[in-house]
Amino acid sequence: MDHLNTPNMEEAARAILARNDRGGYTVPTDRLYPFQWNWDSAFVAMGFALFDVDRAYRELERLIEGQWADGMIPHIVFHAPSDTYFPGPEVWGTRHAVPTSGITQPPVFGMALRQIHETATTFGTPDAEERTRALFQAALRSHRWWLRARDPDGIGLVSILHPWESGSDNSPAWDDALARVPVTTKTVIRRKDTGHVDPSMRPRDEDYQRFIHLVDLYRECGWDPQRQWATTPFKIADVQMTAILARATADLLHLAERLGSEEERSELADMHQVLVRGLSRRWRPDLSRFVSLDLVSGQDVEAPTQAGFIPLIAVMLDGHQRGAATAEIERWTDGMVVGVPTTPSWSAAFEPKRYWRGPVWAVINWLICDGLRLNGTEDLARRIEQMTVQAIERAGFCEYFDPTTGEGLGGDTFSWTAAAYLVLKRRS
Ligand code: DGY
Repeated sequence: MDHLNTPNMEEAARAILARNDRGGYTVPTDRLYPFQWNWDSAFVAMGFALFDVDRAYRELERLIEGQWADGMIPHIVFHAPSDTYFPGPEVWGTRHAVPTSGITQPPVFGMALRQIHETATTFGTPDAEERTRALFQAALRSHRWWLRARDPDGIGLVSILHPWESGSDNSPAWDDALARVPVTTKTVIRRKDTGHVDPSMRPRDEDYQRFIHLVDLYRECGWDPQRQWATTPFKIADVQMTAILARATADLLHLAERLGSEEERSELADMHQVLVRGLSRRWRPDLSRFVSLDLVSGQDVEAPTQAGFIPLIAVMLDGHQRGAATAEIERWTDGMVVGVPTTPSWSAAFEPKRYWRGPVWAVINWLICDGLRLNGTEDLARRIEQMTVQAIERAGFCEYFDPTTGEGLGGDTFSWTAAAYLVLKRRS
């Protein structure tokens, strides 16, 4: 890959962000993902904030061009046509002016906004306050949507209705729930991803049949959240999603202290308390991690995946929990060339090259390290950051990495890997 010949990796990372820029927004990578993706953009915005605050704001501003009237920020905004991706806007059949998908993705947006705002304030960027205020209102509307649409029973955990919402599409965490979803589809499946990337590194065809079955079902619900909630066979109160929402809520609350009203502050504080309480109940001492809840079967999702550690970004663990979670992350990483695997090597579901069933993702390490630092486990955070930076320096800005060999996998010249490199390199 050409960027490996570039002596300065930070320059190479910035060049990838420039190359993937399509006019104020960034595609995750050319061809494989030719539109704007929700959580990719939030991570990318944090990368941009290190060297171009205006561009960082633009990334979030372009994303909310896709925000729905009910507050949802969709997982894909189809700003411009492309025929290199399936499923495109015609399959989603949503009604938004700028075409979008009909599902969402982890709300890293609020976390990014706080960071961009703080950088802008430090550098005295003109119009920063006005831009932050507008984005703050968009984020607040989206958080309200999350609680209203995805925790209607008030359990303090928000649910995903589609594996694509989690961002961890084919994680073993979804295997049992996804098995309930029929493989029949109304839409003809024309996968494009396996034309860009080795199929052994992607979800299986059967996974795609179930993914598209759910898209068909929700389109028939007219994308109405209540109808979807009532009809779906796939409903998981997800600790990774809830943790990101809780952390983003804390970050919005921080912004609201200067920029929000009294009502907004108390609304965000209540929201935060509800989510942290909900998450705290999901700790399992026998597993040394948090577990999601399958709302259809009523069962804990015990499959070991990275999601079990993401609550560290939102919850302050007690001493015993902190020791246990740290030891567990080390156990997953021991013997690996690069950690943290998204599924540990001792799990029967482990596949070191298949997408979310084992590979290491730089942005997941970024979140895990933020969580470790928040919980005062600086040493392990630094080790993981260094390992991630070295993996990228060895293999390039790939989508993900084989934990057993360090090999770079999936798409290359990946925007969020470039952003993660810029952020983690400064820390390591
Ligand atoms: C894909 O197409 O692989 C995406 O992860 C769905 O958003």
